[in-house]
Amino acid sequence: MKKCLLWGPTVKIPLLDIVKMHQPIRAEILSAMEEVVDSGSFIGGSYVEQFESELAAYTGTARAVGASSGSDALLAALMALEVKPGDEIITTAFTFFGTAGAIVRLGARPVFADIDPVTFNIAPDDLEKKVSERTVGILPVHLFGQAAQMDKIDAVARENGLWVVEDAAQSIGAMYGDRMCGSMGTAGIYSFFPAKNLGCVGDGGAVVTNDHALAEKIAVLRNHGSKPRYYHRLVGGNFRLDALQAAVLSVKLPHLREWEEKRRAAAATYSRLLAESGLYVTPAEVPGNRHVFNQYELRVKRGKRDAAAARLKDAGIGHAIYYPVPLHLQECFAGLGYKRGDLPVTEQASGEVLALPILVDEDTCKHIVSVLMTV
Ligand SMILES: Cc1ncc(COP(=O)(O)O)c(C=O)c1O
Repeated sequence: MKKCLLWGPTVKIPLLDIVKMHQPIRAEILSAMEEVVDSGSFIGGSYVEQFESELAAYTGTARAVGASSGSDALLAALMALEVKPGDEIITTAFTFFGTAGAIVRLGARPVFADIDPVTFNIAPDDLEKKVSERTVGILPVHLFGQAAQMDKIDAVARENGLWVVEDAAQSIGAMYGDRMCGSMGTAGIYSFFPAKNLGCVGDGGAVVTNDHALAEKIAVLRNHGSKPRYYHRLVGGNFRLDALQAAVLSVKLPHLREWEEKRRAAAATYSRLLAESGLYVTPAEVPGNRHVFNQYELRVKRGKRDAAAARLKDAGIGHAIYYPVPLHLQECFAGLGYKRGDLPVTEQASGEVLALPILVDEDTCKHIVSVLMTV
């Protein structure tokens, strides 16, 4: 029996086996870590700068600024855009908490638009309806490894003079046509949390942008607004990416494509085997875009999601529900005044979604599907 690496119960097939994924490059990772330890250069410096230039090149952006996490990358980006109390930012409630958390930490108000039922991403029509005179920006999320409808989002932003910060925490490598998620807006953020497609060995994140002045401001803000050292023009924070994490990320980045291909192959197998099930709705891929399956997220119909999850649990198969409570119904956001029924498509998704192990071979997919078919 193997332990699930993502705080799950003891399972035979973990939701994500990061140790196994690292096995072929374990020696390279350890040698990069050893190099950093021997260099004595732990904060900032050449390892961080090297990874930042590799990331900018990979994403096709002018600048990448490393950060201590995806959450801090988002916070620093919003701080650089001078988000202030009273501002409204339109986003989705069907996402990880950090998306809206960054908005609220700056005293601004997240305004939640409903989602597209097929992609789980923000619905541009509803987004348009939510624009008010207080709106300053749009924060779309490319959820589960799939692009939001950026053309329509950009059109709303342009018409209303708004910035767009893409939360691409789950979607490095995902493409919207020929542009990478994270690279299309005013700025984009990535998370290098270990379970992300490009994960480090702890916490890490980055902001990417084509705006040099914005990148510079974010770089200053992540270091307590200090430039030159001990002279502070801005109040920032400690949002820095560690050299150790940057060195590991430099080792892993060249392998990202090959891991994506494995994820895509498993997704294709699941989708083929479940196509006729009647109970499961498999994730749709939008033609022309590239889904990188940070999560393979099924919908389970007829109110049977929890029964399917229980069946997987009994069979020792890792799984997860992303996300059981949408953000507009979270207790800490009660003051925003939302109630059940306000975002029907989001609420329905929360009751139906079920994520399956994704970095697994064809036989494992077949076994998982055979268990799902018993529901
Ligand atoms: C959509 C989304 N936004 C933001 C974050 C925050 O990233 P981190 O965990 O690196 O702070 C995550 C990570 O879980 C995420 O999935």
